[in-house]
Amino acid sequence: MSAPLHTIDLIRKKRDGLTLSPAEIAHIVSGAASGSIPLEQLSAWLMAVFLRGLSLDETRALTLAMRDSGEKFSPARLGKVAVDKHSTGGVGDKTSFLVAPIAAACGLAVPMISGRALGHTGGTLDKLESIPGYRTALSLSEFETVLAHCGASIVSQTPELVPADRVLYALRDRTATVENASLICASILSKKLASGLDALVLDVKTGSGAFLRNQQDAEHLAALMVATAETAGTRTVALLTDMDQPLGRAAGNWIELMEAIELLRGKRPPESEDLRELSLILAGWMIHLGGKALTPEQGRQLAEAALEDGSALAIFFKMVEAHGGDTSVFADPAAFHKPGATQVLNAWKAGYISSMDTTMIGWAVQRTGAGREKAGEPVDPHAGILFHARRGASVEQGQPIATIYATTEALLLEPAELLREAITISATPPDFVPLVGRIFTHENAEMHLRNVVR
Ligand code: URA
Repeated sequence: MSAPLHTIDLIRKKRDGLTLSPAEIAHIVSGAASGSIPLEQLSAWLMAVFLRGLSLDETRALTLAMRDSGEKFSPARLGKVAVDKHSTGGVGDKTSFLVAPIAAACGLAVPMISGRALGHTGGTLDKLESIPGYRTALSLSEFETVLAHCGASIVSQTPELVPADRVLYALRDRTATVENASLICASILSKKLASGLDALVLDVKTGSGAFLRNQQDAEHLAALMVATAETAGTRTVALLTDMDQPLGRAAGNWIELMEAIELLRGKRPPESEDLRELSLILAGWMIHLGGKALTPEQGRQLAEAALEDGSALAIFFKMVEAHGGDTSVFADPAAFHKPGATQVLNAWKAGYISSMDTTMIGWAVQRTGAGREKAGEPVDPHAGILFHARRGASVEQGQPIATIYATTEALLLEPAELLREAITISATPPDFVPLVGRIFTHENAEMHLRNVVR
C-alpha cells in the first residue's frame, strides 16, 4: 500500500522547485473538486506552481486529472463530429457567439464549456447571462438535449462537469495566479477534453491584452496546448491572434451580444470587421477539422455562407431559447440596453490612436460594473465600453472615441481615467499588426516544445 499523501508536503515540494508525480497532482485536483482541501492550501499550491512552474509531464498530468475530476460528456450519441473553439482570454472577445452557431449550421456539434470573467478579460458566461432567463449551468442530460436540438450549446463548469476547474478557475482569479502557461493549458483543456471533442481550435491571444503578452510566451502556450490535447486524442490547432486592441467595438456584457447579433444578422459595421474576420477564420478551421471542408479556406467560405444566409442566426436564437433565454430582447437590442450612467470620452488632442494598453482597458471595463471585484458577485449586464475609434484611426481633438456605460455615475470616473491612460494619441500612425500570426498544429507543436529553450 502506498503512503498517504499530505497536501502540506505537496505545497512544500512545489515551493522548493521539485517535480510532482501524477498521483500527487491527482491528490490536489481531487481535493479541489471535492472541497476536501481548504482554499488556503489550494491558493498556496497555485502560487507555488505560478512561481516554480510545471514541467511538460506535470502539465499533462494536471490537465488529465482536471478533465477526470467530474463526469464526461460523450457527444457520440449525437451522430455528428464534435468541434469547439476556446480563446486564452481577451477584451471584447465575443467570437464564441458567432463560431458556435456557424459551425452548427455547417452540420457539426459544438458542445462548448466556457468560463466567467477572469482577471481583466471578459467571460462568455457573464455575457450570455445578460439575456434574461439564459441558464448556463445545465445538467449533462440537458446539455445533450440542447445539443441534439440545436447543434450548439454554451454552458458553464458545474459540480458534475470539470468541478476542479470550477474551483481553481475562481481561485486563480482571486490569487493573481492566472498568467501561467501550465495553469491556462490545464484549465482550458480540462474543459475541452471533458466534452469529448473530436477537434479543437484554440485562439491564443498575443499583445497588450493577453495573459501572456509576449510572442515567445504565447507561442509556448500554443504549442503546449496543441501537444497536450493531441496526446489526449483530440485533433487540435492553435492560432496566435492579435490582442493589442479590444476585438470589435464593444467590451462588456449585453453590448457584446448586441455587436455579435448585428454580424449574425449580416450587417458589417466597419469597427466590427476584425471580429467578423477572426470569427470566420476560426470557424473555417473548425469546419475543416470537423471534416466538412478540405481546407480551412474552404471552411471559411462555408462559414461566410452560414453567416450571410441567416442559418447561423437561426441556430443562435434556437440555442438561446433552449437555454431558457428570452429572444424577444433581440428584436430591438438598443432598446433593451439600459445602463445606469453614460459618459462619452472625447479625443484630448488630434492625431492617430497609436496604441491601446488592452489589459488596462480590460480593467476599465471591469470597473464600470461589467466585471466582479469578488467571486460570486453579480455583474451589471449593461455596463461596458463602446469604442468609436480603433488603433490606427486618425482623430480630431474633441471627437468621441469611446462611450462608457457604468452602473452608477460614480463608477464612470475610474474607467474614464484608465482609458485616458491606456490610449495613446500620437502624430504618426502605428505599425500594422496582423490579425492572425503563427499557426501551431501537431506537426510543429512538439518540435517547438523540444527545440525552443525557455
Ligand atoms: N480560459 C480558461 O478557460 N482558462 C484560463 O485559464 C484562461 C482562459
